[in-house]
Amino acid sequence: MHRVFARRASWDLTPNELARRVAERRAGGRPLVDLADANPTHASLRGPREALRAALEAAARDPESARYEPDPRGDPAAREAVAAWHREDGARVGAEQIVLTAGTSEGYAHVFRLLGDPGDVVHLPAPGYGLFEHLAALEGLEASRYPLRPPPAGEARWRVDVEALAAELGPRSRAVLLVHPHNPTGSFVDPADLAALRALAAERRVALVSDEVFADSARGPGAPAGALAGAEDGPLCVVLSGVSKLLALPQCKLAWLAVGGRSALRDEALARLEFIADAYLSVSPLLARALPRLLAARRGIARELLARVGENRARLADALRSAPGAALLPAEAGWSALVRCDAHAAGASDEEALVLALLERGVLVQPGFVFDLEPLHAGGAHLVVSLLAEPDVFARGAELVADALAGRPG
Ligand SMILES: Cc1ncc(COP(=O)(O)O)c(C=O)c1O
Repeated sequence: MHRVFARRASWDLTPNELARRVAERRAGGRPLVDLADANPTHASLRGPREALRAALEAAARDPESARYEPDPRGDPAAREAVAAWHREDGARVGAEQIVLTAGTSEGYAHVFRLLGDPGDVVHLPAPGYGLFEHLAALEGLEASRYPLRPPPAGEARWRVDVEALAAELGPRSRAVLLVHPHNPTGSFVDPADLAALRALAAERRVALVSDEVFADSARGPGAPAGALAGAEDGPLCVVLSGVSKLLALPQCKLAWLAVGGRSALRDEALARLEFIADAYLSVSPLLARALPRLLAARRGIARELLARVGENRARLADALRSAPGAALLPAEAGWSALVRCDAHAAGASDEEALVLALLERGVLVQPGFVFDLEPLHAGGAHLVVSLLAEPDVFARGAELVADALAGRPG
């Protein structure tokens, strides 16, 4: 490694076999149904587009848009709208407990800077989304994985292995990350696990960091509340969320941290987060002023997303009926489907070979290993399928997946 560069960004940047083959296929102009694409702006959704247009038109008419009076925590009216959103979920939270960020990933960076010094440890769920490990590493932190236990057949709720996590916590541990609901399993954190984690975090003096960007994607009623509800007397609790998933508007780069926990700890955390945010002032005040209007469109957007995801899930379930070895795992929320299957049934040696074979047939899905999903047996595989595509396109992709998993010739 060249001595001029820091270790924190010294990953192997060569594209993997799958990325190389996808690029080749695209460059050659060969058709591809992309069921790995989780970008909602590619999904022809009407609600987010209309809400954004209305909010930007209002911003254009507002004379205040011409001024720049930055507040390090973010525009007060925007923060109040966010706090109101969390109050609807049962949290006792005011605008002063919110700090706006330019995307959830930046929120993670602020939180990691707040909590850890280089070499300190954050505990992340496995399976999970690989980005968090990179975000931790970029702040000089180490990531340790704690296990989520899969549900019994037919159920959707993955459980936190609290004992295994407790055994891993050490003197350099600073935070435990929860994803509620989780990507890609679509499982909420069980209220009993949340209570156990709060007790553990209080006892071992670590913070709870709860990623709730998919909070509005529950498939049914009765979704458990987020981590901010009931956080008042507990350990430091930081909830991350934002419009990229809640409103399917990733191009806005608007997100927030909502901070709870014992008041002395919480207020100190907020003062420090304000200092961190002030060093960058990265949130556009212009967009932040649009946030209350955007959030007002929340329910309609959630309904449209839910309908899309539900329809595609039903199509995938239908298609997989013709592939006896493959199972669509139940999910409580989220935009992805998990398919548990057997690579051998499709004539592939393992999960990676299966995904490459699917690509040859013209459909792209994510292999489970990207999310640390362990195969259950030799030849076992998980596929992570984005449910956002337009239904006709999705149906074509689902048929291609089912054909391969049933061993039908391509
Ligand atoms: C669970 C989860 N949290 C956070 C993010 C990043 O969100 P943002 O686009 O707001 O940075 C993602 C992106 O897919 C995600 O899946």
